[in-house]
Amino acid sequence: NRPFRIAVLPGDGIGTEVMPEGLRVLKLAAARHGLPLELQAFDWACADHWLRHGRMLPEDWFETLRGFDAIYFGAVGWPAVVPDHVSLWGSLLKFRRDFDQYANLRPVRLLPGVRGPLAGKQPGDIDFLVVRENTEGEYSSVGGRMFEGSERELVLQEAVFTRHGVDRILRHAFRLAQQRPRKRLTAATKSNGIAISMPYWDERVEAIAAEFPDVQWDRQHVDILAARFVLQPERFDVVVASNLFGDILSDLGPACTGTLGMAPSANLNPDRRYPSLFEPVHGSAPDIAGQGIANPIAQIWSAALMLDFLGQAPGADAAAGRAAHDAIVAAIEQVLRTGPRTRDLGGHASTREVGEAIAAALGG
Ligand code: NAD
Ligand code: IPM
Ligand code: MN
Repeated sequence: NRPFRIAVLPGDGIGTEVMPEGLRVLKLAAARHGLPLELQAFDWACADHWLRHGRMLPEDWFETLRGFDAIYFGAVGWPAVVPDHVSLWGSLLKFRRDFDQYANLRPVRLLPGVRGPLAGKQPGDIDFLVVRENTEGEYSSVGGRMFEGSERELVLQEAVFTRHGVDRILRHAFRLAQQRPRKRLTAATKSNGIAISMPYWDERVEAIAAEFPDVQWDRQHVDILAARFVLQPERFDVVVASNLFGDILSDLGPACTGTLGMAPSANLNPDRRYPSLFEPVHGSAPDIAGQGIANPIAQIWSAALMLDFLGQAPGADAAAGRAAHDAIVAAIEQVLRTGPRTRDLGGHASTREVGEAIAAALGG
């Protein structure tokens, strides 16, 4: 029973503040459920690595990380020092693409004790899963600038949709829908306006849907789909989307449940050839960094997703991973009902107080 090897990358800003709380709960839950871990930390971020070396990652990052079972990630980005596209394409987006983490799972749930901005919603009314394509689509490196600085300046950026890439994310999403009680799936599209890639996407949705006759599915243009997140969130179960649409929907969803500070994500390489990456949906939040007031729940919940996924590895203990996941989520729910809260939830507690309360609720 070898330990799971986990690379820990806190990153920048509040990433470095929520990570210790994530680790506190991760270690405790893993120990409780007999899931041995071996953690190794890396300081690859804007401050200091970029400042010292002029790059986000060392040259041998791929070989260094590829033997790990998972990457536990905080958030990267410090736009005052490094332009965002440089820091993000220099780390997080590279991991997603080079480690083929094509399925980005972003659960959205209204949790007990939390009052979101939508009037009259109860826990259970908002409980869906955004499945975001994570390696292609609108996030492409194909394009360029011409005639720079002149009146004729021209900028092109292509979106890339491959049969392989589209089919695998759709199958992944349909399979997840099949495992959920409601067995429903909504595919985000925009085939009325984006008239080349999105009709193709629609065609593949229809083809893959035929493989899953027990899943009830529909297709919605992403503009009205976004509006319905706000107006009728009960409608949604699994929502599958291309890279950019999935990015936007997975900030909007958590906003409907109160705060971005609780939204977790799993960037999965489902065939386990490479490490998968677990991180909050939110970023480094320079506006509140350094004050110790960030909500650590997204980071902590991401640890739960990680233990669940690790437990499902061949030869591992799936029941233990699932139990550790469920115990962490239950501890979060308990603290939300009665415990301290950070400011984004209307409280006054520090990041650390919330982390300690969740650890205590776990029985630490
Ligand atoms: P952000 O998610 O960092 O912050 C958006 C807003 O939400 C801010 O007002 C922030 O204070 C608040 N917020 C975020 N997380 C919170 C938490 N845990 N508790 C309480 N409030 C929280 O998004 P942004 O401002 O667009 O980006 C800031 C930096 O982070 C940029 O450099 C961006 O590129 C980067 N970023 C990184 C990741 C990542 O590494 N995965 C994700 C998103 C953004
Ligand atoms: C996310 C983030 C990233 C993305 C940024 C930081 C590049 O917003 O993980 O959702 O767009 O994927
Ligand atoms: Mn995002």
